[in-house]
Amino acid sequence: MEQGMLAEQLEQDYQLKNLLLAYPNDWFIDKETLEKTKLSLPNLLKFYKSEGTQNPDPTLVQSIIEETVKDVYKVPLFSQTFCNLLIDEMKNLESFYGFTPNPDEDKLRQIPEIVLQECCLPIYNSLLEIVFSVVNPILLSIWNRHVTGGGIQIANYNLKDKKQGAWHHDASADISIVVPLNTGEYEGGGTEFLNRGIVDPIPTGNALIFPSFTHMHRGLPVKSGNRYLLVFWLTCDEEKSKI
Ligand SMILES: [Fe+2]
Repeated sequence: MEQGMLAEQLEQDYQLKNLLLAYPNDWFIDKETLEKTKLSLPNLLKFYKSEGTQNPDPTLVQSIIEETVKDVYKVPLFSQTFCNLLIDEMKNLESFYGFTPNPDEDKLRQIPEIVLQECCLPIYNSLLEIVFSVVNPILLSIWNRHVTGGGIQIANYNLKDKKQGAWHHDASADISIVVPLNTGEYEGGGTEFLNRGIVDPIPTGNALIFPSFTHMHRGLPVKSGNRYLLVFWLTCDEEKSKI
């Protein structure tokens, strides 16, 4: 049975353990980022209304977006409370579904993962809401681009199943975001971008944001423990956004 079909069948039986995760709210988000994102909206709106006839004004959220290596950005995104709750839910999801490799990817690039749009729609919808309300103002502040949807999964690098990734592009996405959920609980890890450099593990809840088309990358080897990542493959294309 295909992974998608299996997930569809099992979905009816999976009960969300942490119901709060189905209700996107301010506490999901890093406090300073949330405040600065909200305060950035007037300038973003002003540029949008000008239909490109005026230069975009700087936004407040730009002050907390850091460029790590060339055109790879880091910003505090999710709160520690949210990450803890998501890890707890993920363990519940793992006992129900297990982490499975994505059969759509070739073997070298497969990473054990839980695909949220297939396994847990309430959390997928909740995170998509955050993408629209908080992530889009950040993307607009970096590139004057915004996304309309995409896939979201939790990946697990570990010594037993998969300790590192092969070089790849996130082919289905326009913009990729990787959020570590348990930095400090494993050794090794980090991400290497071809001809750009290495980004060491960033704090839990921080987002690493990069364009998918240009940035070939790989996950670096984990030396011990489980490295859990929340991974967004986002698209700017309305058609591709439909799941
Ligand atoms: Fe990737």
